[in-house]
Amino acid sequence: MEERLQKYLASCGVASRRACEELIKAGRVKVNGKTVTELGTKVQIGVDKVSVDGKEVSQEEDYVYLMLNKPEGYVTTASDPQGRPTVFDLITDIPQRLFSIGRLDVDTEGLLLLTNDGELAYRLTHPKFSVSKVYHALVTGKPSEDKLNRLRNGVQLDDGPTKPCKVKVLRRFNHKTLLEITISEGRNRQVRRMCQAINNPIIHLERVKIENVELKDVKRGHYRKLTIEELLPLMNKVQLGANLAKMMLEEEN
Ligand code: URA
Repeated sequence: MEERLQKYLASCGVASRRACEELIKAGRVKVNGKTVTELGTKVQIGVDKVSVDGKEVSQEEDYVYLMLNKPEGYVTTASDPQGRPTVFDLITDIPQRLFSIGRLDVDTEGLLLLTNDGELAYRLTHPKFSVSKVYHALVTGKPSEDKLNRLRNGVQLDDGPTKPCKVKVLRRFNHKTLLEITISEGRNRQVRRMCQAINNPIIHLERVKIENVELKDVKRGHYRKLTIEELLPLMNKVQLGANLAKMMLEEEN
């Protein structure tokens, strides 16, 4: 069977498909000993020998899907030039090399999905699938209904207007308000910039849900594997449900 190189690398758990494209462009990938920088290159699965940074990759690894309750102060990248702790420092007993599905800012807490399934990571972060993410945002002041409607309808950010989203007031305090904001985009620091745009900057931000997957039964700084009941609707959302059914059958046999 033939596969495009970046898709094959992602299916080997190297990184998400987009990150694999960068590895190829950076000249870090070889096919049968020759460096390949062309993105569309096809490889014959099981025939061609593919390596990244000199290390051969293959599709044999078991897939892992985790939810982590990210604490403040941890970065979502594999390493940090400033030496801050990374979310991967919290993962202690998983032998597979994982990457995060999307990112949370260093000062954001809550639900982060981690996997070695590059195809799932690629699809869950692709705008075409409009994956919903729910945030609890504690903002300064008491945003008026008019301002909340501006958030709902879309505010102008320096990289363009935001798409319509859901905003609910969960609780009003004296000088702060707890909002529930559901977005289906994933732009850099989006929720913070949206709240800044209505002049109610964020004091604390936590992600509590991605599609059907809720941050439940996991303490801050801890993680657990997703259940099949959580994984199946998530995979169906990005049209990978058939892949999961196949994996489960293979496990049974
Ligand atoms: N929006 C933000 O502003 N920060 C995050 O970490 C996630 C979404």
